[in-house]
Amino acid sequence: MEPLKIAQDPEISTNKPSPTPAEPSSEGMTDTAADKEKTPPGGLLPGETVIKEGKASILFPSANEVFYNPVQEFNRDLTCAVITEFARELLAQRGVKVVVPGEKERVVVSLSEETNEGDVQTEEKNGAEEPAVTVTVGEKYEHGLRVLEGLAASGLRSVRFALEVPGLQSVTANDFSTKAAALIARNAQYNGVSHLLQASCRDASMLMYEMRGKKERYDVIDLDPYGSPASFLDAAVQAVTEGGLLCITCTDMAVMAGNSGETCYSKYGSVSIKAKYCHEMALRIILHSLDQRAAVYQRYIQPLLSVSVDFYIRVFVRVFTGQLGGPLWAEPIHDLAFVQKVLSAVSGNPSRFGTSKRIEGVLSMVTEELEDVPLYYTVDSLSSTIHCNTPPLLQFSGGICTDLQDKRKKFQNKRKNQITDSSHLKDYPCKKFKQGTCTYGDKCCFSHNLEQTNVEKME
Ligand SMILES: C[S@@+](CC[C@H](N)C(=O)[O-])C[C@H]1O[C@@H](n2cnc3c(N)ncnc32)[C@H](O)[C@@H]1O
Repeated sequence: MEPLKIAQDPEISTNKPSPTPAEPSSEGMTDTAADKEKTPPGGLLPGETVIKEGKASILFPSANEVFYNPVQEFNRDLTCAVITEFARELLAQRGVKVVVPGEKERVVVSLSEETNEGDVQTEEKNGAEEPAVTVTVGEKYEHGLRVLEGLAASGLRSVRFALEVPGLQSVTANDFSTKAAALIARNAQYNGVSHLLQASCRDASMLMYEMRGKKERYDVIDLDPYGSPASFLDAAVQAVTEGGLLCITCTDMAVMAGNSGETCYSKYGSVSIKAKYCHEMALRIILHSLDQRAAVYQRYIQPLLSVSVDFYIRVFVRVFTGQLGGPLWAEPIHDLAFVQKVLSAVSGNPSRFGTSKRIEGVLSMVTEELEDVPLYYTVDSLSSTIHCNTPPLLQFSGGICTDLQDKRKKFQNKRKNQITDSSHLKDYPCKKFKQGTCTYGDKCCFSHNLEQTNVEKME
């Protein structure tokens, strides 16, 4: 469903004209757009003021009806910087170059010893050919990024995206307050970015749930709530594109920094504790929570930047689809001494169970597993990792079991009753012993008693 375009709200066009409108900054926008739209439709409303931040000039009503926090300028600046870099990376993969106002041709200083000291090369000269397409700020690029600001208030942040971040296809600035949404539309017009920025008046979660279809997802979702973002996270991890970017603020620092561990658990799935490192812990809690929610949809996060600033924390993470294993139990999965007792008892009394033979087989196998090596490795893949020919399995297991056994005796001598991993190999004759070259003596896991072994098993 298309977001509501508040710009067409009849209320807005019936505003009474008022005295001289404040001059918005025209830097960063095209002359035509700036010239055409620097006066708000109908002029400033009574009591309305203009606030400038970055390249944006934002109209604010006299009454404190719509949220504005000047202290968050850093948050908005940082977000523009991060999204710009994200757009640069993403669009470069599509052969598109972004042009950032004020940015000189990027300079790469070579630190290699082979080049002369102070060698400086431009990036373009280092790389291959110049990309065929370039995109600038304020320009709508059809194959560019789709951005959603879910909780936009006056639209200040979104207007700044439209004016300061190149390579955008659209910015949807959403707020469930009708006053805020009307102001967003007005600010988009005032800043000459209505071609890029749509105002939307929806519940942010509902909007994101509606847009979670693969074709409608957003490349960037910014969530900057009052307090906790917890209730928006489930929708956000679904509504962002593959490899897309989530930019999330949490201002509920009391909860995240240990003042209310239980509330923290119910919101984020982690108990916060009071500690000196509470800010970093808060960052790790929100990252964990995002990852948990992404995992529900077979997705995972890749943090790009996580910072604690002033009274809030802000994280920037990419979201990908993929299967991740774990967490798993990494400690031993059997008590080998106990298993050995069961095995001995069942083998000593085989008539007790109909499946005694099978129990013996399974438990024997258990006792032969490497105790402290979770999961398994195949000889093929190990050989390919170190680029060698794949040795025969018996030779390989004979080699490692003797070695491991020695090491375990040295380092794990607390573990009594260690069951040898090589017991089954005693059924096989030692080829080296046969040739007179075995150096392991009694420690050899193959049999040196050639008459008692089943030689056929070797062949
Ligand atoms: C902290 S302000 C956003 C500030 C803004 N991002 C900025 O940088 O100036 C939070 C806004 O979220 C809006 N809001 C709260 N809950 C919402 C919801 N469920 N859906 C949409 N908007 C919501 C409020 O009306 C408020 O304007």
